[in-house]
Parts: sequence; structure tokens; C-alpha cells
Amino acid sequence: MYRSHTCGELRPSHIGSTVTLSGWIQKSRDLGGMTFVDLRDRYGITQLAFNLDDAKELTEKARKLGREFVVRIEGEVIERSSKNKNIPTGEVEIKVTSLEVLNGSKIPPFTIEDDTDGGEELRAKYRYLDLRRNPVQDKLRLRNKVSLETRKFLDSQDFLDVETPVLIKSTPEGARDFVVPSRMNEGQFYALPQSPQTFKQLLMVSGFDRYYQIVKCFRDEDLRADRQPEFTQIDCEMAFVEQEDILNTFEGMIQHLFREVRGVELDAKFPRMTYDEAMERYGSDKPDIRFGLEFVDMNAVTKNKGFSIFDDAEQVLAINAKDCAGYTRKQLDKLTDWVRRPQIGCKGLVYLKCNADGSYKSSVDKFYSQEDLAEWAKAANAEPGDLLLIISGDLDKTRKQMNELRLHMGDELGLRNPNVFKPLWVIDFPLLEWDEESNRYHAMHHPFTSPKPEDMHLIDTDPGKVRANAYDLAMNGVELGGGSIRIHDRDVQSRMFDLLGFTKEEAEAQFGFLMSAFEYGAPPHGGLAFGLDRLVATMGGSDSIRDYIAFPKNNSGRDVMIDAPSPLNNEQMKELGIKLQ
Ligand code: AMO
Repeated sequence: MYRSHTCGELRPSHIGSTVTLSGWIQKSRDLGGMTFVDLRDRYGITQLAFNLDDAKELTEKARKLGREFVVRIEGEVIERSSKNKNIPTGEVEIKVTSLEVLNGSKIPPFTIEDDTDGGEELRAKYRYLDLRRNPVQDKLRLRNKVSLETRKFLDSQDFLDVETPVLIKSTPEGARDFVVPSRMNEGQFYALPQSPQTFKQLLMVSGFDRYYQIVKCFRDEDLRADRQPEFTQIDCEMAFVEQEDILNTFEGMIQHLFREVRGVELDAKFPRMTYDEAMERYGSDKPDIRFGLEFVDMNAVTKNKGFSIFDDAEQVLAINAKDCAGYTRKQLDKLTDWVRRPQIGCKGLVYLKCNADGSYKSSVDKFYSQEDLAEWAKAANAEPGDLLLIISGDLDKTRKQMNELRLHMGDELGLRNPNVFKPLWVIDFPLLEWDEESNRYHAMHHPFTSPKPEDMHLIDTDPGKVRANAYDLAMNGVELGGGSIRIHDRDVQSRMFDLLGFTKEEAEAQFGFLMSAFEYGAPPHGGLAFGLDRLVATMGGSDSIRDYIAFPKNNSGRDVMIDAPSPLNNEQMKELGIKLQ
């Protein structure tokens, strides 16, 4: 027997019993006559005590134990003389009677402690050691709880878990595909699914009615803190539903998850906002509504006073940083440098300080009188003590930049509390977005999204104005999930492919199977998918999803532990019929 108990289990009620434990050596302390060793496993830490006078040989053996050795011990649970209130097992220790080293360990490249001395790269290389650390294990425990509760909830609502293939043909979700060469069909390639989108729609045609899958998706796109090349979706689809049914069902699921996993009661009804409103007020389709700092349109009060930058701008936007008029020159310069970084790309930042004495100080006050500036303050509901931050330029770009500045100020002013969770449905997304580069429309969500019937009349005359039955769930500035009501009519789907610039032949070659399925009684259907990694990271109060993935990739898409991707050997290349150019 390797163990009768875990290292997190023993309490004063076990005093007097003989136990067997196995685990890793966390650390040992040699106090002359006594040697104390912390034994660790997934469940906790138990102190082992060795007394040189009672058991000389055993104690000398214990003294030789190195960090991360794997051992099995047997002994008696006794009361600890100096109790450790910080750990659940801290009132007892084991008076060891036998010790067996099951395996030794090299000195680990970093300390396996909550606060480790290991840098990110080193920990990634030895991820299996990093995964021994408590904070990392806690994150994976959280993930496990979220997927378990997801399954429980969806099962209780009659959703069926159905697996879909991983070697498929391209699904257009807006990223590049990862491809896999086929040995048996030389010169041909599978694509890994960017999502199971078309399969879940086919399952609706097959009558499955309510489908879900916790499923890996693959997208070859530029990586960020909340993006991985392979990530996991909670992917769902329902038949005979309208948008309202879907929003209600999944609002219920998210409430269930927060209640069961975090003990947090979310809003009884999640607020909703149209895409247009979200862009106008926050410049983002995933606004963080934990705090204000909403956009103020300053066009009416800033133009035609001789300041050409504002005069020439399509949009002048402000946010009102409450009680920040005390910002020093240095702080304002720092903010200006921040918005000028290439990632943000502002030309400059104009400020207005609303002084306590009722006067105004602006960085451009040679163009504006005190009365003009009072108008600015009025437009932004600013009071003495407030600070307006103002940028200008093209509408879309300025909104994007102001969104960044708003989030930055939110961080700086401590307004983004990771333990506050504010969900928001963003609805009525545009069906299409214009792509300057390819000079044509792209589907904003994906090509299977249904236009709003009331906007269908615009589809030929002003396609950019057509709204979709599409929705996203945003929380704390993160897009947790998104979906839509789908097209289930062959002709509408074919018209959509037209609009997106597919020729009839291309549409047939790529999506013939779906259009053909629509000829055999496709029910009205719709669905959505949540990013599990993002959901768990948000629940854990973190911006980065990497820590919530057991074996993540780095920013260049590499797994530095297994060293992938890596070249194939010549034989494999030959077998696949592939030559590198
Ligand atoms: P979408 O492309 O919006 O929709 O993806 C759904 C959710 O998946 C998460 N996500 C990601 N998470 C981590 N890394 C990535 N690279 C990544 N890309 C997306 C996000 C996102 O909201 N088939 C549709 C869903 C549907 O219409 O039902 C789809 O995939 O949280």
C-alpha cells in the first residue's frame, strides 16, 4: 500500500493512528536533535518528524532527502507542539517509523513554492514541475469545476454531448486554418476545425435538437493574452429557438456556473446593449461595464475655434476621469506617451483640468477661452476636480484608441476589481464588415449567421447596414462567447455566399454538403459558443488564459517543453509527398 491517507487529510481526530503517506519532499529543516520534513501531494502538506535520539538511522536517512524526492513513510499521528494555523493539517505531525525513497530527484530548476523564483520561460520549459505548484493546480481545479458544472447544467437541460471530427475541411471563422497533409490522398489536406460550426448545424438537421460539446478548436492567428492557437469551446446549438430562447438558456448556464463554482450571484437578468450603442459609449463590442468613464462626443463644443487638429477630425472624444484634476505634469506626460505608443497610435492627448476654484486649464487653451472650456466641461458633466482626457481623429480609429485609454485609466484608478463580474449581452451585430484590404465584405460573425428579417430589404442596396441575429456575451471587457441564429434556407445561404464574394462553384465546393442538407428539412436553429479558457480565466480574476491551460503555447505558438512545431524527417516528407520550397 502506498498510502492510507493523503497529505492534506490528517487532523487531531487521527491522533494515535498509524498511517502510510506518499508524496514529494517540499522541504526539510534540521534542528539538531529533530529533523522536520514537509511531505506534499495534490491535497496538501503534512509534517514528518524524526527524532535523532529515538531513531538515529531513520533520522540520518531523512537528513539526506532532497527537494522533490518521492517517498513513502509510515508512522504515528501525534499532536504537534508548535501548531501551524496556516495549513489544515497544521495541528498534527507524523512520528515516522519507516521511510522508503521511491525515487530521487535532481535539484529542480526553480523552487516549487507558491512564490517561485522561476521566470516564465524556465517554468514553461519545465511545465510539469510548474504544475506541481499550488497556485497553478488551483487554476486547473477551477477549470475542472467549471467544465463539470457546465456538463451538469447542460445535461439537466436535455443537451446531448456529441463529438465531431477533428480532421475536416476549412470552416470560415475568420482565422487561418491549421492543415494536416493526407498520406492516403497525396497532395490533399485536412483542416483542423476553427470550430465545429457546420457539424453542429448538421446535427440540428439530424434532429438532435440540443447539442453541446466541450471541444478543442484550432486557429492560426496572432496570439494575445486571451488567445491560444488551440483553445476550448463550450459549443452549443439548439433547434426550434429564437434569439430570446438562446439568451435565456445560456444566461442560466452562466449564472449556474458562477453560483456553483464561485459562490457569486450574478445579475438576475443580464443587461443588453446593441452593438451600435456599445461602440458609441465604449468604442468596444465587449465593453467592461464595471466602471463608467463613458465616451463623450465633443464635436459640438470643440470645433471651429481655430484648433485645426479638432477642426479636421471626424470625431473628438472625451472621457471624464473623476477627481483626477490633481494629475501632475509628469503624470499627464506619461499618459500622453502611453497613448502615443505604436500599439495605440494616437498623435497626442488633450486634457482639461477642472480646477477646484472653478477655473479651467487645458493643454490647448491658447485656442479656447475659459467660456469655451466651460462648455467642454458641461458636455462631459465634469465638476471641479475632474480631468477630461480628449483624443480625436477618424471615428473608428478614435473609438478604438479611446477604448484602450478608458481601460488603461480603469486599471490606473483601480476600477477593474477582478472579484466583480459584470456580464453584458451585446446584440444586433452588423451582418457584414467591409474589408479594405480585399475590397469586399466579410461575415462579421460567420457566413451561416442569419440577417434580421426586418433588414433583409437592405441586402442588395446597402448590405453594410444589415443587422444580424447575432450576439456576444461580454464580461469585464472580455468576449466570453458569441453566437447567432442561423440561416436554414438554402436560397438565403446561397445569397449570403454571393455577398461574401464566393462564386457558385466555390460555395458548392466548400459548403455543398451544408446547402444540400438544407434541402432535407432543416429546422430553424441557432446557438453559441463560449471560450472555456476565457471563462475560467475571468472567473479566476485573470486576463491571461495561459495559466488555465495545462500545457499552453507561448506567444510564437511554440510548446517549448516538447519543442513543437518541429521539422519532419525526410522519410515522413516523402511519404506525404511534400517538398519544402
Ligand atoms: P467565435 O469565433 O466567436 O464563435 O468563438 C467563440 C468563443 O471562443 C473564444 N475564442 C478563443 N479563445 C481563446 N483563443 C482563441 N484563439 C479564441 N478564439 C475564440 C471566445 C469566443 O467568444 N462557431 C462560432 C460560435 C457560434 O456561432 O455558435 C464561433 O466559433 O471566447
